Amino acid sequence: MRNIAFIVGSLSRQSVNRHIAEHILKNAPTDVQAEEIQIHDLPLYTQDLDEQVVPSYERVRNQLKRADAVLIVSPEHNRSIPAALKNILDIATRPFGQNLWANKKIAVVTASPGTYGGINAGVHLRQILQAVGADTLVAPEIYLSKASLNIDERTGAFLDKFAASFFNWVNKD
Ligand code: FNR
Repeated sequence: MRNIAFIVGSLSRQSVNRHIAEHILKNAPTDVQAEEIQIHDLPLYTQDLDEQVVPSYERVRNQLKRADAVLIVSPEHNRSIPAALKNILDIATRPFGQNLWANKKIAVVTASPGTYGGINAGVHLRQILQAVGADTLVAPEIYLSKASLNIDERTGAFLDKFAASFFNWVNKD
């Protein structure tokens, strides 16, 4: 059994990105179980918190430890990644020396109702993941433009193709 953790970069109730994440995960093979890493309740990271037990930090760190791979599906906020997503990226690199992203398999999808599909957020995210030593899925890349809660047949097929590549990659070694 493989454990996939997924992170939705949006905190919004009617999130297009959540809808896309759910579509991708519907394709999961039977030997894969997926669990969400919730990020809405994580206090903003500061090094001062390294001296304390923060239950929500413990929760997400444990989820990351047991994840064989992570799928991140995120919107773009002002040409970069949302603050809540940056927060968990930071939380899981600390305390110093306990970087949970190192060598972790991570796949990235960005989506936007706009024309550019959140490409700036996607590129920024990949840059950060490289800096923290993650094993990021290089291709296929998805920056989904004109994204909406109605996934049409063409978009659905495109996401299904991505899902097949992702789960195939997760199951390798
Ligand atoms: C946005 N949005 C946006 N879209 C985009 O393509 N590029 C951008 O730089 C931004 N910037 C931005 C900033 C902030 C603060 C918000 C709230 C929104 C629009 C965004 O793509 C849209 O709200 C999506 O619906 C967000 O995805 P979710 O939350 O529906 O998953």
